[in-house]
Amino acid sequence: MYLKGKIFFCLLVVLCFTAGIALAANKAPEADISIHSGDVFKEFKQGPVNFPHVKHKALKCTDCHHEYKDGKNVWQEGQEVKKCSVCHKLEAEGKIVKLEKAYHDSCQTCHKKLKNENKPTGPVACAKCHEKKAK
Ligand code: HEC
Ligand code: HEC
Ligand code: HEC
Ligand code: HEC
Repeated sequence: MYLKGKIFFCLLVVLCFTAGIALAANKAPEADISIHSGDVFKEFKQGPVNFPHVKHKALKCTDCHHEYKDGKNVWQEGQEVKKCSVCHKLEAEGKIVKLEKAYHDSCQTCHKKLKNENKPTGPVACAKCHEKKAK
């Protein structure tokens, strides 16, 4: 009994530890992300876009991250985050809007909406999001 309990305890520790690591790995990164989807856009008209998670801490992860099943977002905080470009491609596929629209409908639409409401917001002008030169 005593030994069994001990083994069980050890297993529990290992389990919590690995779950902890998995969760930490899917945390919103503190460092800014430079968005430049060379896997989808063959040629760029615009430069890369800087995205700071830290400036978006007040939002829910699911305001931006999703994975739909039967029309419902089933993605939850802590789960693996796929790149937007894994699903959104150069052209729309059915309900899945093309990558350029996916980004603009997410980033620009929210910033514009908040700007109109006179709330703290992010950039709305092309050149404030896109670095000058296409690289
Ligand atoms: C709030 C931020 C934001 C604003 C404002 C914005 N964009 Fe973007 N745009 C993005 C993001 C993010 C991407 C994805 C970039 C990537 O993956 O390389 C993107 C992608 C694009 C692309 C496709 C990739 C390319 O370089 O060919 C084009 C074209 C583009 N934007 C043009 C514009 C134009 C024109 C404006 C102004 C009318 C604008 N964007 C305003 C965030 C923004
Ligand atoms: C305002 C929109 C937005 C919010 C809110 C947001 N994210 Fe993100 N996140 C993004 C974008 C955009 C990317 C880059 C996606 C890509 O490269 O295709 C990203 C990437 C990530 C990545 C991958 C990082 C990497 O380096 O590959 C993780 C992990 C992540 N987000 C976790 C989270 C978590 C956890 C939350 C909530 C606490 C969150 N995000 C909230 C937009 C957001
Ligand atoms: C696992 C696949 C998947 C990933 C990853 C993904 N999306 Fe989507 N996205 C979808 C699907 C499917 C829909 C359509 C949902 C529906 O209408 O039923 C959608 C819809 C959207 C819409 C709404 C469409 C509209 O009318 O404008 C936006 C905006 C969007 N995605 C942006 C993003 C952004 C930004 C990222 C990365 C942070 C992302 N998506 C990552 C699959 C994905
Ligand atoms: C649902 C709303 C929402 C979405 C979606 C969103 N943002 Fe923001 N963004 C904000 C808000 C609110 C702020 C201002 C935060 C503050 O200053 O307190 C902000 C701030 C920023 C800033 C910082 C500007 C500065 O002055 O430092 C950048 C850059 C930015 N957003 C880029 C993006 C990009 C790129 C995307 C898409 C990948 C995006 N945002 C998606 C709401 C949003």
